[in-house]
Amino acid sequence: MSDTQQKTIYLKDYTVPEFLISHTTLHFNLSADDTVVRSKLSIQRNPACKKASPNLTLMGEDLELISIAIDGQELSSEDYTLNEQTLTITQSADEFILEISNRINPVSNTALSGLYESKKMLCTQCEAEGFRRITWYLDRPDVMSVFDVTMEADINLYPVLLSNGNRADSGTLDNNKHWVSWQDPFPKPSYLFALVAGDLACLTDSFTTCSNQHVKLEVYVEEHDLDKTQHAMQSLKNAMRWDEEAFGREYDLDVYMIVAVSHFNMGAMENKGLNVFNTKYVLASEKTATDTDFENIEAVIGHEYFHNWSGNRVTCRDWFQLSLKEGFTVFRDQQFTAHQTSNAVKRIKDVNMLRTHQFAEDAGPLSHPIRPDSFVEINNFYTLTIYEKGAEVVRMLHTLLGNAGFRKGCDLYFERHDGQAVTTDDFVKALEDANDTDFTQFKNWYKQAGTPVVDVSTEYNANEKTYTLTFEQHCPVTPGQATKDNFLIPISIGLLDESGQEIPLGDGQTTVVLALTDSEQRFTFDNINAKPTPSILRSFSAPIQLNHALPIAQKIHLFQHDSDTFNRWEAGQNTLSQLIFDSVEAIQNKQTLPSLPDALIEAFRSILQQPLNDLAYQALLLSLPSKAYLAEQMIVIDIDALYQAHHAVKKALSAALSPLWLSNYNAYHQVDAGITAQDIAQRSFKNLCLDYLMAQQDAATVTLCTAQFDAAQNMTDQIAALSQLNHTESPQSAPYFDAFYQQWQTEDLVIDKWFALQACSEKSNALDDVKRLLQHPDFDMKTPNRVRSVISTFAMANPLHFNAADGSGYAFIADNIIALDAINPQVAARLANSLSRWKKLDTQRQQLVKQQLSRIQSQTPLSKDVLEIVTRSLAA
Ligand code: BES
Ligand code: ZN
Repeated sequence: MSDTQQKTIYLKDYTVPEFLISHTTLHFNLSADDTVVRSKLSIQRNPACKKASPNLTLMGEDLELISIAIDGQELSSEDYTLNEQTLTITQSADEFILEISNRINPVSNTALSGLYESKKMLCTQCEAEGFRRITWYLDRPDVMSVFDVTMEADINLYPVLLSNGNRADSGTLDNNKHWVSWQDPFPKPSYLFALVAGDLACLTDSFTTCSNQHVKLEVYVEEHDLDKTQHAMQSLKNAMRWDEEAFGREYDLDVYMIVAVSHFNMGAMENKGLNVFNTKYVLASEKTATDTDFENIEAVIGHEYFHNWSGNRVTCRDWFQLSLKEGFTVFRDQQFTAHQTSNAVKRIKDVNMLRTHQFAEDAGPLSHPIRPDSFVEINNFYTLTIYEKGAEVVRMLHTLLGNAGFRKGCDLYFERHDGQAVTTDDFVKALEDANDTDFTQFKNWYKQAGTPVVDVSTEYNANEKTYTLTFEQHCPVTPGQATKDNFLIPISIGLLDESGQEIPLGDGQTTVVLALTDSEQRFTFDNINAKPTPSILRSFSAPIQLNHALPIAQKIHLFQHDSDTFNRWEAGQNTLSQLIFDSVEAIQNKQTLPSLPDALIEAFRSILQQPLNDLAYQALLLSLPSKAYLAEQMIVIDIDALYQAHHAVKKALSAALSPLWLSNYNAYHQVDAGITAQDIAQRSFKNLCLDYLMAQQDAATVTLCTAQFDAAQNMTDQIAALSQLNHTESPQSAPYFDAFYQQWQTEDLVIDKWFALQACSEKSNALDDVKRLLQHPDFDMKTPNRVRSVISTFAMANPLHFNAADGSGYAFIADNIIALDAINPQVAARLANSLSRWKKLDTQRQQLVKQQLSRIQSQTPLSKDVLEIVTRSLAA
């Protein structure tokens, strides 16, 4: 725990770079355990920098220096200072050529940052600060340079050599070697650099842009995976077309490449012209990938593609601005997915995840604004807040400006800042300027952490025929922010009459957006002939916690009639949550459980008797709120009572409507269905019916599951059946897990699912099973996907056993954080997030978690990644 390890970096300390690098030429002599890098940098003093320091300090980590020269003159060791993280050269001129040669070892790079080996290929990951693990550089996003890259390597081991930009030249050398060179004409920061070398197969296609430019599209994978690349390619073409149509953004190089690698810390990376992807977000066939996997692949391919404008052409000035590119790009990928699939379903899924996970983050010790003021390790700030709340903030700007105004603002942003490294203020300024508006108050969303709470009360005045809504806002205290200014909160609302019709508000509109700006504010609607049912926060128009006590009859009214698909779903979820919480209380007080309200049963029945057009939406409408979401709503999480209550409500709904669950299951269960939107929607609804039926745990339903498993022609149905069998205590499930393993043992991504299912089992001996899984020959601590499928799944998706009263779950996770930290600090730090929410637990469990956090904190050595997370978690 040294001082340098815990050094905090502040936004307020930002200064422009003293030097710029106009041109970067890199030469790689590649080999798995001994790669030599030669860089040639054209360096100038930055005219915008007032300081005239005699020192040039470059960043570098885990590098072995071979030589340095300035303007062709080799430097001797008196001419520079080398330490763990920097190389400082004194007496530098205003403009000079710096040449450095250094050695790196990709095989020993288990942190998977910089240049590393995955299976037999070599690849890079440079965001955020991985480039400094390749060579010494001004590794900061506001230093943008034109890159020329040449790679030489063994032609048999590495027949494919890729880097950013366009292919320039290639040739053969002696000793079975060859070389390829690449030129990227667009200046870019070093975090967007990429290189890939390997024996890869390639799916090729092409795309003609809106201005008739021809672009080659290439998806590189291991040979045996080539049959699983079609969907990725189609997704890429869909994304390219959509960005032209929705945002007027065109692609700008001759080629767009995607490479799938098995070892990757994250999901995917937007390196200019050469995206590197986790195999999980590329490879898919009906047999090996679920419908959700297919949808995720299209979303992630879209996301990385959209970064070409929101991230690459216009990039971030510094890492405090991360949400500038990530929040905006998540918003863009959400709009894309909504367009490709269903608006209603996409919005519900996004809000569900935001409220379950980001709200939890924002209410805990790791809470931070979407533009943080400080950080220790930037890798710890790729958070749900930066991404998902960041996207919500962009969505609010979209709501406030309308689609056309928002588009005008984006056009101005891209035009004004093309080729620049900018800030979130620049983004907001472009939206303001294009729309002649003022977002000063809105910018509190960037500065202030925490989820605002809005309380609503309503009053109908029958004499005046007015309806008044009163809103009050406040925001809880978060680390370092004791008081908060008011937010500007767009609240979209509609009113329903007794028959469920929308009441026209003002100029014929049935939905209006109110701008809440004060701590207390009233809005009155005139000409309201009878007391309406309010539908508030339509489409979830702001990332807030809305408190509005509505009688159950009115909730059911919304659940049956609201034309806003989000609020219709929300009304049902509210009703069900209330029921589950009433049951939790009954369990805690050892009373009999409340019965299901008849109105709720009837509302469910009418949907089941007359299915909607959008079966995917219907499946969400009839789903119970997740235990994770409900846990987040509880002041002190009583995990055992929550599980019991959740199960009891499911079982009651199952019993009350059992013939309908079964008839719908049978009506929509189609063994040989394909992957059209309709097929996918049917499957999601049919598998929901199976889930309700299984609440009975009766022999007949178990037979339905085993039959579905045996007959399954696609992974969605197979895994749905297997996950139902997963929780049954009966020895019946084991043969199915064995059969699944036997069938899929050569498919890494499917085996990840096999591991993950077992890691989230509710069975009483689940932790022992998980510990055994770590000894399985297919488990490997150096493969993040495996670590996530077993260890992270247990920590994040098995609250029952993770929170075991004896602390065994916490101790297990702490042991593994420590073991993993020595291999891959980024992945270890992410896992450590699971120990941060101890304030929500009872006092015994709080002690148990804190003991583990302290135990981790006292380890030496410990990465600054993990140290920062445990220190902040304990500080609260
Ligand atoms: N730029 C990130 C990838 C990244 C982040 C690499 C941090 C290294 C460190 C990329 O654009 C991204 O956001 N990827 C997401 C998936 C996306 C669909 C939200 C990821 O990897 O999880
Ligand atoms: Zn991104």
